[in-house]
Amino acid sequence: MSGAWVAHASRVLVSASRRNSLSERSPLAENGVSAEKSVIAKTRSPTRVTRALPRLRKLQRTKYRQMRFKFSMVTPEMKIETLAVHAGHGIDPATGAVATPIYLSTTFERDIEGTYSRGFMYTRNNNPNREALERGISALEGGAVAAAFGSGTGATMSILQALAPGDHVLAHIDAYYGTSRLIREIFLRWGLEADFVDMSDLAAVKKALKPNTKLAWSETPSNPLLKIVDLAAVAEIVHDAGALFVCDNTWAPVLQRPFDLGADLILHSTTKYFGGHCDVLGGIVVAKTEDDFVHRIRSIQYEAGAVPSPFDCWLILRGMRTLPWRMRAHSENAMKVANFLAQNRKVARVHYPGLQSHPGHEIAAGQMSMFGGMLSFEVKDGRDAAMSVTAKTKIFIRATSLGGVESLIEHRASIEGPGTTSAEGLLRLSIGLENADDLIEDLDQALR
Ligand SMILES: Cc1ncc(COP(=O)(O)O)c(C=O)c1O
Repeated sequence: MSGAWVAHASRVLVSASRRNSLSERSPLAENGVSAEKSVIAKTRSPTRVTRALPRLRKLQRTKYRQMRFKFSMVTPEMKIETLAVHAGHGIDPATGAVATPIYLSTTFERDIEGTYSRGFMYTRNNNPNREALERGISALEGGAVAAAFGSGTGATMSILQALAPGDHVLAHIDAYYGTSRLIREIFLRWGLEADFVDMSDLAAVKKALKPNTKLAWSETPSNPLLKIVDLAAVAEIVHDAGALFVCDNTWAPVLQRPFDLGADLILHSTTKYFGGHCDVLGGIVVAKTEDDFVHRIRSIQYEAGAVPSPFDCWLILRGMRTLPWRMRAHSENAMKVANFLAQNRKVARVHYPGLQSHPGHEIAAGQMSMFGGMLSFEVKDGRDAAMSVTAKTKIFIRATSLGGVESLIEHRASIEGPGTTSAEGLLRLSIGLENADDLIEDLDQALR
């Protein structure tokens, strides 16, 4: 390398690094790319380009380090409200934007030597918004790593697909209907073995475990009967059998921390409380530790491709910022509605873990900070009486799903269809953020 070239190249590098320090504020206007072009232009011959490569690489690495999206420095010691606001978020280095930009690009520029030092290649593999969401929810749950999907069911699917034919799954009998259907209708045909057991009964769990049980699937509070699984006790039994323990935490994000109670994996349908406004579909698997099983889930994520769009990731991460406060309000409202229903003469039974009469109340009080926004109740006169309540409500909307700001009412047996185990008189409520007095008045007139 000639002395003249070295002198020239170091001049270029100095001016490029000046530009790069500017570029931290505004790399869109002055991003250092012209510095690379200038080095290449001055080298003229292919041999000189090859010689210049180490310097170009150094220049590029510096630039990327400076431009890379900076995530805010949350610490595990932070309180949940602080984590929810800041985890996964950071100031955009390109513009200073406080709200994270949405990166719609499906493809990302390669480095000169063919690598992807900025960490992104193709959006199915990874995307800045998905990475932000995964980091955010992982931090909130206290996990090591997360993989986001286009729906909660997509996330569930990835966990089951990471198992091998012949593995046995033990699932909670009152888990979300779609989860049991997925196991029964798809995975049994693909060679998984499965049993369903009431996981609020520890003796039944012990009895149902088999030598080939690789995974136990819990959900608490469960859907639609709000059964409570003692997470710490079941985790111990499942671990003694050498299996992984999964908790579907969709109904109680923030209110319970399954990793602290022994879960290995947490699942969320982020369609629900994380999104919080019934306008986005998503799911996520969070792992307590990064191991081979999680690597399999990750490869299923990008090789099978059930990934969320950047905009959906952005919406879910935005929803997370208010999650702890919304969960508090959902829970307070639900407690008031449950107390009202428990005293109504047309109601046979109320399923809400916040009520002292609930069989899982004590366990729930030990493992949840509040009891959540979901409840179900049975009217005395069966299906017709239940349907008449749903026809008469004015604030409660007749719709499936949960976790939004608006209250929803649903006749579970008819939505679940043939094979449902839900009682014909059972109605499920997703309690929203309206005033509890208005919700109670609405139910009161509908029950008359
Ligand atoms: C507890 C629970 N887990 C998983 C799911 C599936 O989520 P998604 O509808 O986002 O696929 C649901 C959906 O209602 C659910 O309630």
